[in-house]
Amino acid sequence: MSESASDSLSANHPEPEGVKVAMEAIYNWNYEPEVDELRNLYAKSLDLQWIALRDLEWDRGIDHNAFTRTFSLGGIPITETSFWKSLSDETRWDVARRSASFMLSNFLHGEQGALMVAAQLVNAVPHMDGKFYASTQTLDEARHVEVFAKYVSLLDNVYPISPGLKKLLDGVLSTENWMMKAVGMQVVTEGLALYSFRDMRNQTEEPLLKQLLTYVSRDEARHTGYGIKYLNRVVPTLSDKERSDLEDFAFEAARLLIDQRAGYSMRETIFQLWKDAGVDPGDALTSMLKEREVIQQALAKGGGRFGPVSGFVIPTLRSIGLYSDRIAEHFKEMWTANVGAETADRLASNVDEVPEDLEAWVNEGYEAL
Ligand SMILES: [Fe+2]
Ligand SMILES: [Fe+2]
Repeated sequence: MSESASDSLSANHPEPEGVKVAMEAIYNWNYEPEVDELRNLYAKSLDLQWIALRDLEWDRGIDHNAFTRTFSLGGIPITETSFWKSLSDETRWDVARRSASFMLSNFLHGEQGALMVAAQLVNAVPHMDGKFYASTQTLDEARHVEVFAKYVSLLDNVYPISPGLKKLLDGVLSTENWMMKAVGMQVVTEGLALYSFRDMRNQTEEPLLKQLLTYVSRDEARHTGYGIKYLNRVVPTLSDKERSDLEDFAFEAARLLIDQRAGYSMRETIFQLWKDAGVDPGDALTSMLKEREVIQQALAKGGGRFGPVSGFVIPTLRSIGLYSDRIAEHFKEMWTANVGAETADRLASNVDEVPEDLEAWVNEGYEAL
C-alpha cells in the first residue's frame, strides 16, 4: 500500500483494537454424522450461498425517495409524524441517511463480532457437525460485513460501535464456554438482529436495502436455528448451576443491547445527527410530543426497541429451557426501570412462540427473490 493510501485509511478509521480471549480448541476424532439436525443445516447452508457483488443490484444505487419515505427509527414511526412531513425533501433525506447510517453501523460492527465468534465456534464446539456448520456461518458473516459496509458507504460514514454492543462482543469472544458463546451470539444477538432485519425489510421500500436484508435475514434464520437446535440438545444435560449460569449470561447479553442503564444512548446520538442535518432536536421533540399517540400506538404494537427481545429472544430462550421464573424477574425489573411498570407488565406477559420454521417465517412474501 502506498504511504498516502495508508495515511488516508488511518485518517478515516479508528485504530484496530484487541481483546484477550481464552478458549479450548476441541478435536473430535469421530467423523460420522452425530447431530443430524446440524448436519442438515450445514448441507442447506452450502446450497444457499450467495455472492454479494454478483447477486445484489448495486448499480441501481439507493433510491433516496423510497428510502426516506419508509425510514423507521428503532421502531418509532417517524415518517408518520407531522414533524417529518414539515421538513423539505432534502432535509428528510439528510436526516434519514445519517440516522440510518448510525443504526446500520452498529449492525455492521455486530456482524464483525458474529464473524469472529463463528470462527471461534469451529474450534470450540465438541461435535464435528457443529464445526462444519460454524464454518459455513463464518463465510455468511464475512458476506454480511461486506454488504453492510458497502451499503453504509452509500449513506454516510461508519459510526463508532455503541458501548453496550462492544461490551457484549468482548464478553462473548472472551468466555471460554462454547455454550455461552452460542447463547450470547446465536440466540440473543442474532435473534435480535434477525427480528430487526426482517422488520426493516418489511418496512422499507428502498429496493437495494430490501434485497440486501432479505438475503441477510435468510442466513440469520439459519444462524439462530443453529443456536436453538444445538442448545436444545445440550441444555437438558446440564446441571442446575450450569443452566443458571447460562441463563445469566443470556440475560446480561440482552441487557447490554437494550437497557438504557447499560449505556444505551441512541437518543442523544440521533439528536446530534439531526443537528448536523440542520434540524433542531428541541423543536422536533416538541412537535413529536404533540403526536404522542401516533408514536405510542406504534410502539405498543411493535414494542419499539424492546420488541425483538420480548417478541423473539425471550420466546427462544423459553423454548430451550433458559427462561426460569428467576430470570423472568430480571427481565421484568429491566423493563420496569426502562419503561415503567405498566409497559413492563405487558412485555413480561408476552407469550409469543418462536416460529417453527424460521426460514419460512423470513421468506413470507419473498419466496421469489
Ligand atoms: Fe450476520
Ligand atoms: Fe449471523
